[in-house]
Amino acid sequence: MKVAKTIAEMREFRQETEGTLGFVPTMGYLHDGHMSLVKMAREENQVVAVSIFVNPMQFGPREDFKSYPRDTRRDLALLEPLTDIVFMPSDKDMYPRDYDSWVEVKGLTDVLEGAVRPGHFLGVTTVVAKLFNVVQPDKAYFGQKDAQQVAVIKKMVKDLNMNLEVVTCPTLREKDGLAMSSRNTYLKRGQRQAATVLYKALMLAEELVSRGENDAGAIRLEMKEFIEKEPEANIEYISIADNATLREIHHIKLPALVSMAVKIGKTRLIDNIVLE
Ligand code: PAJ
Repeated sequence: MKVAKTIAEMREFRQETEGTLGFVPTMGYLHDGHMSLVKMAREENQVVAVSIFVNPMQFGPREDFKSYPRDTRRDLALLEPLTDIVFMPSDKDMYPRDYDSWVEVKGLTDVLEGAVRPGHFLGVTTVVAKLFNVVQPDKAYFGQKDAQQVAVIKKMVKDLNMNLEVVTCPTLREKDGLAMSSRNTYLKRGQRQAATVLYKALMLAEELVSRGENDAGAIRLEMKEFIEKEPEANIEYISIADNATLREIHHIKLPALVSMAVKIGKTRLIDNIVLE
């Protein structure tokens, strides 16, 4: 496994490689969720590239850029058996002092995470476009865990005629349903148990729909009341949306995206399921 610490080194590697390249962009502090993307990339490609870059542009001024967990040594050890090259650029290499260019996807970014994290997706699409330009993958792998992110990336690739395929991979969960996330490490004792409320609320929505409930507002309300019973939990939003447009729906029409952002103590967690 090679480690490219500069854009120039990554480009050089790409120019020398033959065969299809599968790419997994990450911010590191890898868990089994990330690794499931890497495994998928390994199965479908001759060459596998993973990037580790905590992208400052996608964090708001009051968000956790500085405290975001980092452990490069551990990450590299996990990647070693499955990865051909790890791209770990510096902030300066990615965003030199005179940096001025942005990639913006409109529409899809107005709602959900985009509505409560202004500028977040502008940072995501810009960095992912840059990473695609440097790595030049044939396929790129993203998690359903960040449902809106993968929808926005797919739209960017389509609108800008980027020459690659975006693959969506299922959400990996802990045994009790909690979606794996680098941010789960922020959870203090007691909060870890409280965090299961997100998945349980998603299961409640699924159950209500399978029992024939058709009123999205009624389902949102039941989810809200369920989550509010957990004293550590503070709801940021609960959404039932059209899975293509991500706009809120009044009546259940499948496929629907049920998603939420909930703070457990100070830790902001997101999760979702698609009702098919
Ligand atoms: P990061 O949060 O590190 O996630 C990297 C990839 O792993 C994303 O595609 C994310 O959806 C996926 N992922 C995270 N948790 C997962 C889980 N439990 N199951 C399956 N996949 C999971 O998302 C980012 O980084 C950044 O925004 C990035 C795309 C790298 C741009 O900076």
